[in-house]
Amino acid sequence: MSSGSASSMPAEVNQGASRRASDVVRVGVIGYGYWGPNIVRNLHSLDSCELVAVCDKNPAALKRASRAYPGVKLTTDFAEVLTSPDIDAVAVVTPVWTHYDLAKQALENGKHVFVEKPFTSSSAQAEELIELAARKNLKIMVDHTFLFSGAVRKIKEIVDAGTLGPLYYFDSTRVNLGLFQHDVSVVWDLAPHDLSIMDYIIKERPEAVVATGAKHLNGVADMAFITVYFPGNIIAHVNVNWLSPVKIRSTMIGGRDKMLVWNDLEADEKIKIYDKGVQLTSAEGVYDLLVSYRSGDVWAPRCQQTEALKVELEYFLDCIARDQSPMNDGVAGLRVVRLLESAETSLQARGKVIEL
Ligand SMILES: NC(=O)c1ccc[n+]([C@@H]2O[C@H](COP(=O)([O-])OP(=O)(O)OC[C@H]3O[C@@H](n4cnc5c(N)ncnc54)[C@H](O)[C@@H]3O)[C@@H](O)[C@H]2O)c1
Repeated sequence: MSSGSASSMPAEVNQGASRRASDVVRVGVIGYGYWGPNIVRNLHSLDSCELVAVCDKNPAALKRASRAYPGVKLTTDFAEVLTSPDIDAVAVVTPVWTHYDLAKQALENGKHVFVEKPFTSSSAQAEELIELAARKNLKIMVDHTFLFSGAVRKIKEIVDAGTLGPLYYFDSTRVNLGLFQHDVSVVWDLAPHDLSIMDYIIKERPEAVVATGAKHLNGVADMAFITVYFPGNIIAHVNVNWLSPVKIRSTMIGGRDKMLVWNDLEADEKIKIYDKGVQLTSAEGVYDLLVSYRSGDVWAPRCQQTEALKVELEYFLDCIARDQSPMNDGVAGLRVVRLLESAETSLQARGKVIEL
């Protein structure tokens, strides 16, 4: 990716580290719709960032930005941001189908790029951007926000420490009523979250994808069930749905020794670890199977509360200042896009197995 080495996620990104003026990264943000204001608010709060410009083609969006950030340059023309000599990095917070074009132009103009999930609309586009960034020694970070949440960082720590034992499964549910998107299916809208978390937690690389789903309203799938097969009998399942009467954000990760449940809607105790398991011993043949169930303690590890996006954006600026590749770089974004493409292909063919 770049001449710098890959940077693993810092415990609490660079807190307390001394800063030189040259470490301050000058950023322009394109897209101030639903998610853009969160990016802008967090960038504005960071000492390592100078928020130079906010761009949105919709003047009403810029009016909102002008009230919140009076000193920041506002423009409806993205070219002004992409070509400005006063900007080092661009955040692309626009609809998915615009990511490739805007990110490409940003890289061509020598800017580092923070791009929303999903990285691009196709793996070919992602590969091209990765190659372009490498050639120009620029960073790409894909906004896989959840990887920077206290809960996912804790889960990663627990899984990597071997507390759950060898993994059996990863099962994630992300359902609610809406927000319907017009340009992408629920697979491209919601599943990037679960697939990026899965990609981060499970070290093995997936072997095959199967997806089913249905379109009820506007021509794109509004519910989908995605299964991902890994080596070593690890299986992952992701349920995403815009037509659910209730909001659920829950992930179960089962291992041989322990099982974990993450409920992101809980204010406290988001993660619970169950000392539960099943042991099979067979004496002679299947009829003599001895099944023993273990049901021990349950505990809830403490998770850090810092806003994930703040941790992530600080990490982005830090990777630029230190010339290091972020762990959620273009290559990580590409892995997720490949899974999304395969899931969409499988879904269209009613659950065809797509080998990766
Ligand atoms: N990481 C997360 O948790 C998270 C959450 C929500 C959305 N997102 C992602 O953020 C991106 C934006 O989603 P959203 O919900 O904010 O969409 P949105 O439609 O609400 O906002 C997009 C904004 O971009 C502007 N825009 C589009 N093309 C432009 C262009 N060429 N030049 C200037 N402005 C342009 C639009 O006017 C609009 O205001 C999507 O990729 C989405 O997947 C990520």
